[in-house]
Amino acid sequence: MKNNPFRKRTGILPSHFTGRENELNELKEIYRSTKNGVPGHLILYGPKGIGKTSLLLKFQEEISHFDDVYPVKIPLIEGDFEDIYTLMIEKCSDSLGINVNHFWEEISSLGINIPFIGGISFSREIPKTSPAIAFEKILSMIYDKLESNNPVLILLFDDLQRIMGNDETMKILSILQNALVELNLKGKNIMFVATGSEDIFYKIQDKLDSAVRIFEPYLIGPLSYSEVCEAITIPIKERNVAFEEEVIKEIYELSDGIPYYMQILAYSCFEETNEQNKVTIAEFKKASTYSLNILAQREFKVLFSKSTTEERKILCLMAESDETILSYSYIKDNAHLNSEPSASLKSLVIEPPLLLRRRGFANLKKTYVFF
Ligand SMILES: Nc1ncnc2c1ncn2[C@@H]1O[C@H](COP(=O)(O)OP(=O)(O)OP(=O)(O)O)[C@@H](O)[C@H]1O
Ligand SMILES: [Mg+2]
Repeated sequence: MKNNPFRKRTGILPSHFTGRENELNELKEIYRSTKNGVPGHLILYGPKGIGKTSLLLKFQEEISHFDDVYPVKIPLIEGDFEDIYTLMIEKCSDSLGINVNHFWEEISSLGINIPFIGGISFSREIPKTSPAIAFEKILSMIYDKLESNNPVLILLFDDLQRIMGNDETMKILSILQNALVELNLKGKNIMFVATGSEDIFYKIQDKLDSAVRIFEPYLIGPLSYSEVCEAITIPIKERNVAFEEEVIKEIYELSDGIPYYMQILAYSCFEETNEQNKVTIAEFKKASTYSLNILAQREFKVLFSKSTTEERKILCLMAESDETILSYSYIKDNAHLNSEPSASLKSLVIEPPLLLRRRGFANLKKTYVFF
């Protein structure tokens, strides 16, 4: 079996990265401006699987060849400000090869109260500083550790939406704005790039409005047909496999140019390669059913994990039944709920992923009956 060049998951660089020239040029332009003392800050946003993380990784890879530049990728996770400081310090010290112990000592002497990783906190008596000051001090200290003459520190925050659910950390952008402006005034060139979900700017603008004016939104769009062609044909050529043109067209149409769906479809097509090392429409048909099932199962798992006990009873009933559609009375009689099913059913209605919507639910698992 040939080694499959495509990716079934998000969050990893593809074996062949395609397109995004404009985005990469824009990012490099901002880097140059930052180096000249006029920093720019960008928020790359777009739907799930559009390629935000990969773009960040690609930029990090390309910019690493430039002089005096220090890119650090920080994958955000839910938590409070202390978690964000910790994450930032750990990632910076890893990427920049700075000794962590020194960092913690200096930080506690700066009056920032961060629990020490080893369990002992030697900053207990120190009063808490405001997050804007804490960010400024931490970043300033990291920046001062950089060895070149006029360094540019590039912070790459992945998945900003993860910290937007928390009332405290959702103010991160206005806080960072204060810190970044102060640092710039002190001649420290720091560029900030974040990725966020499609609705991130709604979330931010609703609550903070003009407080985040230094962060420029940049919408990441789908790949074009020729980019999808390139992303598929280059890696398969290296493995002596060919996809019929019709197959590539189908993949493009089904995926709508969204790299995540394109990768899953191409992955399953590659798995079906026939004895002549080809993928024809016949192989594509088998592969697309498999891909849609992978996606359906993933969506189901996410939905199940977020559901209440009552909602889970309905989901289990749906998963166990052979029917495509379950009637209200069937659910009421068989799910053993504590109350009428209507409230739980209502909260189970979800927006299906694009790929599933386009295909209808004919060949999907019954878990999607409640769309
Ligand atoms: N320019 C590209 N060319 C080819 N494949 C790509 C490209 N960009 C992303 N991919 C692939 O598409 C998939 C999704 O990409 P990525 O994880 O970057 O998306 P994302 O927008 O960060 O997703 P999420 O919303 O889950 O965070 C990955 O498998 C990745 O390897
Ligand atoms: Mg991502």
